[in-house]
Amino acid sequence: MPRKIFVTSALPNANGPIHLGHMLEHIQTDIWVRFQRMRGHEVIYTCADDTHGTATMLKAEEEDTTPEELIERVRVEHQLDFENFLVNHDNYYSTHSQENQYYSELIYTKLKEKGLIIKKDVEQLFDKHKGLFLADRFIKGTCPKCHAEDQYGDNCQVCGATYDATELVNSRSVYSGEPPELKKSEHFFFDLAQFGEFLKDWLGQNPVRSEVANKLREWLEDGLRPWDISRDAPYFGFEIPNYPNKYFYVWLDAPIGYLASHKNFLSEDTEEFSKYWNEDTTTELYHFIGKDIIYFHALFFPALLLKANFRQPTGVFAHGFLTIDGEKMSKSKGTFILADTYLKHLDPQFIRYYFSTKLTEGIEDIDLNLEDFIQKTNSDLVGKYINLASRSSNFITKYFNGTLSEIDENHELLQLSRKAAEKIFIHYENREFSKATKEIMLLADKTNQYFDNNKPWEEIKKDNNSLLAHEVCSVTLLMFKNISIFLSPILPNIFKESQGFLNLKNLSWADLDLDLSGHTINEYSPLITRIEKESISRIIEDSKE
Ligand code: 2FM
Ligand code: ZN
Repeated sequence: MPRKIFVTSALPNANGPIHLGHMLEHIQTDIWVRFQRMRGHEVIYTCADDTHGTATMLKAEEEDTTPEELIERVRVEHQLDFENFLVNHDNYYSTHSQENQYYSELIYTKLKEKGLIIKKDVEQLFDKHKGLFLADRFIKGTCPKCHAEDQYGDNCQVCGATYDATELVNSRSVYSGEPPELKKSEHFFFDLAQFGEFLKDWLGQNPVRSEVANKLREWLEDGLRPWDISRDAPYFGFEIPNYPNKYFYVWLDAPIGYLASHKNFLSEDTEEFSKYWNEDTTTELYHFIGKDIIYFHALFFPALLLKANFRQPTGVFAHGFLTIDGEKMSKSKGTFILADTYLKHLDPQFIRYYFSTKLTEGIEDIDLNLEDFIQKTNSDLVGKYINLASRSSNFITKYFNGTLSEIDENHELLQLSRKAAEKIFIHYENREFSKATKEIMLLADKTNQYFDNNKPWEEIKKDNNSLLAHEVCSVTLLMFKNISIFLSPILPNIFKESQGFLNLKNLSWADLDLDLSGHTINEYSPLITRIEKESISRIIEDSKE
């Protein structure tokens, strides 16, 4: 039975460009989505820009434009970056949309009707030089829990704690550098405290892996607090119905943006939308996110959905942060690499492959070691995988009219491939891409060994029509076909080109058993070339501030 699956990546902020950190997540999601589609499941993968908040407002001001113009320009740029990295969103929308306003108001109204919105006066940090209340991200200071310095006003990057900005120690405004002042205003809170039991039950359905669940249980044990969902003007966002000058906090409408993007994608098909979002749905919903926003996705969002009679996420898949050469990306070191800078110098499939060799279902940070990146790409993709095609096709084209020999379906390598398929399938499903790629490269190794041991180049020298040489090259090409299928979620363009070369179309998982006896291929032309060290140096040079 094909599954119906809706998948999202976290919505990138509209106030900055896409960098390799975003790409890590979108590539992870895209690979998983492509894999599920290849398995015959029905998958919708949407995303959007996260547009609201003070940051957007101030950025527009800085660029002497309106927030609306800014976010539209940025959305086009973001979309292009993702496309160029072969990330195939079905819809890339915006949280500043009519659909998002509709669902944000709908959910808010339901919460209000159910008595879950509390009003409270809060003293909030105010930058009197700028004349505005400071969004959490625009206050920095020392974490009240672990005392790490230079943390934002909403959560700590070091210990993961979330807190109110007023709890930060030695806080200062990012704009003026001055300590902000406290100013009183009325805020709206979502009464999250009532959801402890529900969330514990939900966690029981295993939407997150165990180490994340443990962290969440800890937070639940500590007790949940009402969540501040309003912000005062001036603010770029949705005004709260019947409360002029009060706006929904960006983190309220951001996850609702997942529904909005889906709705926009389905357009008038409300029946299909309900199939996915109704409480009694049998469809699946997965969010790929960074580990820093687990709280929002695994506590706030499920609670919001519950009270608005929508379904809960089936899975929230958190990943670790991207580091480069073991450190946080840094503008001064040239390791804060933007998507379009990378693309000026290298094929996106190289980094898609490299990330795959590192990705697991866990939340450990993922290191892009630049030396290792060059080495692995050249040795795995060029030296092991593509090499199978170039070395064997040569003989097939030159001595056998481009036509493959009879191939024994029980050939040892084909049996290995069948066994590997089962494992590779499970690893992809579990987002253990590093295990999947290891398994796939093992097949490439075995095939190369088989080729080397049988020395077709010597056989051909002895006899231009050598049966053995013909068979060895044919089996090698058949294995190349299978390995291409296995790698296809990671290397979509190489997969297309390989099919052109193999003179085959629309290969899918089922074609692992496709027999190529007597099949004629096209002449080989290089599918990829090695990474040169200079490309990396240029990327670093171009990324320096
Ligand atoms: O952390 C971020 O970059 C947010 N813009 C992610 C939002 S994800 C979702 F909830 F919208
Ligand atoms: Zn901390």
